[in-house]
Amino acid sequence: MRRLAVLASGNGSNLQAIIDAAESGALPGVRVAVVVADRREAYALERAKKHGIPTLYHPFLPYRKAGRSRADYDADLAAKLAPYEVDLVVLAGWMRILSMAFLQHYSGRVLNLHPALPGTFPGTHAIERAYEASRRGEIAHTGVMVHRVPDEGVDVGPVVVQQVVPIYPEDTLEMLESRIHEAEHALYVRAIQETLKVF
Ligand code: GAR
Repeated sequence: MRRLAVLASGNGSNLQAIIDAAESGALPGVRVAVVVADRREAYALERAKKHGIPTLYHPFLPYRKAGRSRADYDADLAAKLAPYEVDLVVLAGWMRILSMAFLQHYSGRVLNLHPALPGTFPGTHAIERAYEASRRGEIAHTGVMVHRVPDEGVDVGPVVVQQVVPIYPEDTLEMLESRIHEAEHALYVRAIQETLKVF
């Protein structure tokens, strides 16, 4: 059984797609071993609990208040995760940049999902920014991608899979968002499968 840690800061719809794929056999031999959130209100934690998956809550605020660094936070995150002995760390809407203090423990074994094509709209609000660019006539499509996370770069790294998502003239932002999320849910499951094949 290959063991995944899923790190999420928010809703967790991609986490849900991964859990469902693991439970239905669409992701054979894969189990979500632990879900980590940096925000207590992250709905991803509820989703995990509903499926009996262990959760870790690891907030940054106590570190900031104590004048401790991002590297301290990341080293402790790696230490908390260690007992779960995961094969792959899957970032699913995890909105913190991970430093080498974490990444060195999982070299070549961290995946990130980004709701845009490689090299476009890095960081937050990628869908909204693509939508606005389309309204200005600059683009007629965007996309989604999954990439490995070798270092502290924001939404960059060797691409595992990517998919173009069209933007139609009659789209509202909500329509584009739901088309992108639908693409993400399928793409992330595929990317996990592809990545585990080469381990
Ligand atoms: C997803 O759209 C993911 O691509 C994005 O956060 C969302 C999380 O949704 N990630 C980034 O923007 C990373 N830069 P979810 O919580 O429903 O899975």
